[in-house]
Amino acid sequence: MSNFIKDFWEKQAITFKDSHSASWGDNYAIDLEIENISTHIKEGDVVLDVGCANGHATLAMLQKKPGKLYGVDYAENMILYANENKAKLADNQNVFFEVGDITNLQFEDDYFDVVFTTRVLINLPNWEEQIKGIEECIRITKPGGTIILSEAFWEPLVLLNSLRNLKGLPALVEHDFNRYLKKEKLERWLQQRQLVFSVEEFSSIYYLGSRFLRELVTNPSDYPGYTNPINKIFYDIEKSFSGGGFGIQQAYIIKK
Ligand SMILES: C[S@@+](CC[C@H](N)C(=O)[O-])C[C@H]1O[C@@H](n2cnc3c(N)ncnc32)[C@H](O)[C@@H]1O
Repeated sequence: MSNFIKDFWEKQAITFKDSHSASWGDNYAIDLEIENISTHIKEGDVVLDVGCANGHATLAMLQKKPGKLYGVDYAENMILYANENKAKLADNQNVFFEVGDITNLQFEDDYFDVVFTTRVLINLPNWEEQIKGIEECIRITKPGGTIILSEAFWEPLVLLNSLRNLKGLPALVEHDFNRYLKKEKLERWLQQRQLVFSVEEFSSIYYLGSRFLRELVTNPSDYPGYTNPINKIFYDIEKSFSGGGFGIQQAYIIKK
């Protein structure tokens, strides 16, 4: 049976090659994700980026926190371009890309210091598969290590849409194949699993600017993609202050 979600990512890889757009056009949100995750990595850590696409974030992470970095993605074309991107770096002997599926990872138990996902679990078709993916990330992390789930969440989408509705803006919707995680469900599951975790909002102010104010005070069609200057202004503010619950992208930091 064909997997249309995987087919989509295979095509994205071919269309965008070494660009961050293979995973997402929003370069500011991607930067905020990378910045946030990098605060949980120590130099020398052995790290896995699960669902690494063409390695854009993995290689950026390597520059910030030199260590041993692995990236896996189930789309063969993504790994092809990740290896091409790696080859362009002079100091690349500590980074490894290979094909792998988050629901059945090829690594041994307790291997990594840090395992992270960015917008990967939302590609899995239901909560049962998403739990399977999370369990795999936990399995391969060392006791005392860290699992970071930097994903898109349902509750902030609802909050943002309530605000948009007040001003007559149309509701934002998930990509047709995405299944945003529910914070309440994930937190209940983590508590039942007796895992210690914290939540980091790193995109709330940015979302307020880029997914609300931008459409109220400028004509969105005047600026293609994410080039509206409001995005940059709120990206800059985000780095000094976040909060308010509007950030669809949030990170769950889990200790094993
Ligand atoms: C939205 S992109 C995010 C890519 C990357 N994490 C980033 O931050 O730029 C989602 C990626 O997850 C990959 N993916 C989706 N389902 C997967 C699975 N079951 N196992 C491994 N990778 C998967 C896709 O091929 C795609 O490259």
